[in-house]
Amino acid sequence: MTTGRFARISSVGSALPQRVVPNAYFESIVETSDQWIVERTGIRERRFAGPGESTASLSAAAGEEALRRAGVAPQSVDLLIVCTCTPERIIPSTAAFVQTRLGLTCPAFDLNAACAGWVYGLSVADAQIRAGAADRVLVIGAEVLSRVLDMTDRTTCVLFGDGAGASLLEPGEEPGVIASMLALDGTAAELLTQPAGGTGEPVTEAALKARRNFLRMSDGQAVFKMAVTAMASACTEVLEKAGRSAEDLKLVIGHQANARILTALGKRLGLDREKVLIDIEKVGNTSAASIPIALDGAWRRGLLEPGDLVLTAAFGAGMAWGSSLIRWTASPPDAVTVLAARGERSAGA
Ligand code: ACO
Repeated sequence: MTTGRFARISSVGSALPQRVVPNAYFESIVETSDQWIVERTGIRERRFAGPGESTASLSAAAGEEALRRAGVAPQSVDLLIVCTCTPERIIPSTAAFVQTRLGLTCPAFDLNAACAGWVYGLSVADAQIRAGAADRVLVIGAEVLSRVLDMTDRTTCVLFGDGAGASLLEPGEEPGVIASMLALDGTAAELLTQPAGGTGEPVTEAALKARRNFLRMSDGQAVFKMAVTAMASACTEVLEKAGRSAEDLKLVIGHQANARILTALGKRLGLDREKVLIDIEKVGNTSAASIPIALDGAWRRGLLEPGDLVLTAAFGAGMAWGSSLIRWTASPPDAVTVLAARGERSAGA
C-alpha cells in the first residue's frame, strides 16, 4: 500500500556474548567432529551467554548501539519490538526489561516467530510507521538458545548460538522497506519445538527427565528442504511485488541456519555467489538475531551503501517464514569501523 509516508532503516547494532565456543567443545560432549560441523553447516564457532548475560542484556546492548549510532535519544523512540523465542522470562515480556535497561518510555512487546522473528518485526514496524502510529521503532532480534539446547543431542546442540541485532526504523520520503511477505504453516509445528515449559505442557519432573524442556528437531533434512523452498518462493514473491529482479540486488541476507541452505537459496534465485551473504562461521544459528547481526556486520564492513537493494529471507519454527526487500538508507560507517570489522572477519570470511 502506498501512503506517501514510508519507513526506512536509519541505524543498526549488534551484541554477542563474551564466551566463544569452538566446534572442538562439542567433540568432548557428543559424538561429532569439527570437520562434520564445518562441512555440513559452515559453522566453526558460536558464542554462548555466560553469567549475567541474557536475552534482555544482549538486546539492550544491541539496541543501545543502534540508538547511539543514530544519535537518537531513548525517550524519542515510539515503539520497541523484541523478536525472540528464548525470552528473558515467560512473564513479563523481554521487552519490559529491555525498555528499562535502555531508558525508553514507549510501549513495547515481544514477538515470537522463531527464526523469522526479525522479518515479522520489521513488517510490523513498517506498518506502524506508514500508518502514522509511530515515528521511531526499534526492532531487536535476540536469542539465548544455549539455555534451551539439549547438550546430549548432537543433531541440534552444534547448530545454535546466542546474540542480538537491532535496527532502528524512522520515517522517510522514499520506501526503505519496499515490500514484504510473511507466512506460516502450523501443520509443521512439531518439526522444531521446545515441548515443555509452556501452558500446554508445564515443566514437571517427568518432563525434565525426558528432556522435553529442550529444543527438539525431529527431521533436520525436512527442515533443510522446507527452508530452501519457502525462502526461495518468498524472495520471488517479494521481488515480483516490488517489480524488481534478482539482478537489481546488492545482497541477499538470508537467515543464517546453515551455509548450505544459503548456497542453495542463491542457486534457486540464480544469483552470483558473492551476492549471498554467509555470516554463520563465527556465530552459528542465532534464530531471530541472525539477520540483524548479519546486516550489522555487512554495514560495518562497508558492504552496504545508501540506495543498495538488500533482500532478506527467514525461515524457522512454526514453521514461519518471510522476506523483505530493503533499500539501504543508513549512513555509511567511518573508516575506523570498516577496518576493525574487516579485521574481525579476515580469519574466516
Ligand atoms: N555430528 C556428526 N554426525 C551427525 C551430527 C553431528 N553433529 N548430527 C547428525 N549427524 C549424523 C546423523 O545422525 C546422520 O547419521 P546416520 O546417517 O548414521 O543416520 C548423518 O549425520 C547425516 O544426518 P543428516 O540429518 O542427513 O545430515 P544433514 O546433512 O542433513 O545435516 C543438519 C544435518 C545440519 C541438521 C541439516 O539437515 C540442517 O541444517 N537442517 C536444517 C536445520 C535448521 O536449519 N534448523 C533450524 C531452522 S529453524 C531455526 O533456525 C530455529
